[in-house]
Amino acid sequence: MTCSVDVVKHTIFPATVEYENMSNMAGNPRDCPEIVTKVPSPQKERYKSIQKLYIESFGTEPAFFARAPGRVNIIGEHIDYCGYSVLPMAIQQDIVIAAGPNADKKLDFKNTNPEYKDFTSSTEDYKIDPSNPLWHNYILCGFRGIVEAESVSTPSGMNLMVDGIVPRSAGLSSSSALVCCSSLVTMHANGLEIPKRKLADICMRCERYIGTQGGGMDQSICFLAETGTAKWIQFNPIQATSVSIPPGVSFVISNSCVELQKAATSHFNIRVVECRLATQVLAKAKGLDWKQLKVLAKLQEALGVSSEDMLSIVEDVLHPEPYSKREVCDILGVSEEELNKDSLSQNTLEVISFKLHDRAKHVFGEANRVLKFKEICDQGPADAATLLGALMSDSHTSCRDLYQCSCEPLDQLVELCRNSGALGSRLTGAGWGGCAVSMVPSESVDDFISKVHAGYYAADPKLQGRVKESLFATEPGNGANIIQLDTETSL
Ligand code: GLA
Repeated sequence: MTCSVDVVKHTIFPATVEYENMSNMAGNPRDCPEIVTKVPSPQKERYKSIQKLYIESFGTEPAFFARAPGRVNIIGEHIDYCGYSVLPMAIQQDIVIAAGPNADKKLDFKNTNPEYKDFTSSTEDYKIDPSNPLWHNYILCGFRGIVEAESVSTPSGMNLMVDGIVPRSAGLSSSSALVCCSSLVTMHANGLEIPKRKLADICMRCERYIGTQGGGMDQSICFLAETGTAKWIQFNPIQATSVSIPPGVSFVISNSCVELQKAATSHFNIRVVECRLATQVLAKAKGLDWKQLKVLAKLQEALGVSSEDMLSIVEDVLHPEPYSKREVCDILGVSEEELNKDSLSQNTLEVISFKLHDRAKHVFGEANRVLKFKEICDQGPADAATLLGALMSDSHTSCRDLYQCSCEPLDQLVELCRNSGALGSRLTGAGWGGCAVSMVPSESVDDFISKVHAGYYAADPKLQGRVKESLFATEPGNGANIIQLDTETSL
């Protein structure tokens, strides 16, 4: 198979995140995504219209549907790619793909939203273009991930009609949901059965074909989510544990409507690189083989100390002022070329200064907050909701001040949420725009929503038509699955 990717100078699956490779994991149907034969009633009309468009476009009925949810991260931001655990839940908004075979060995992708242009290529020769991350590239990532991971020699051609209702560039993981849904479709279309954890692993890796060096949170929750529960996701290897949020609280999502597409900018990868350099500079100072260490969690493991100890080490070793590239090279004793090759990513080669102290401080602090959050949920003290809310708000402060991944409108929205009755509120997802997630006493959700509506959305005519999709309460939803309608079941 000849498949070309633009960025080939750098390893596409960089050793940034040292996840245990799960490629040998055997397929046990029990662990594979569920195959259901019915569409839940409230979704029927949506599926019918996707089916109708599919038939109009391809002239036959789809063979099956696949769906993959977006997610909201409750706490644990920008630490998955450092090897630390996170605490997200799936949301109801999802990507649905109607799929069928294509006899010409073609990949034919269409979208129910006419804004997204049709895409066609052969299954043998296609191009994933990180410099122009259009929607179909994410579908190609999922396709390529499965074909490569499972060594599919003659992949089935596929006609796809894609329908997405996860708000885009909003921090709710619409891109990963696309990748995961595409991988699921490719798996099923090629008669494969792959366990969910392995699918998550494949998708985490193959999404990097688009150039973003994300961690595995989005893909893991997409496959491992279960209705009614948030999940504590650990890596090395990927594991998901149910977390009981105390009764009487709800999560409300509010979109700042400031969009950032993480694959189209270098903000995200700069943070990944800063964390990697912080790991290496700290490792060098501690006399460790720094070249072997790429993520902060592995450094902590090598030092055998707690996250609190790591915070003191950060204060002792790193200065708060930004490090120039030259300074990092001098500390590590490498040339700029070596640093470029071993530690930077394609879109961070031109960056000349790195904030190591603040980024590392955020990561260790946030990793700790996740553990505390989980502990409080497990123990359920009387004031659990207040304590959890405070952790969420501290997380936002750290994202805003140390990790600098917020923006003014989002900070204002978080502030408004706190003043409107939230127990805690924070940005969720990659940041630099997108959504806030707030923990709100369930009995005051309506009041909260109307206050946030008045304070953020009503004031801005540009946001008027977007309120329904931008401000809503959400419940933990189910993970990705296949819908294979049996002959007797129609939509
Ligand atoms: C994006 C990435 C995730 C994670 C978050 C920030 O969603 O895909 O892996 O790093 O940003 O927490």
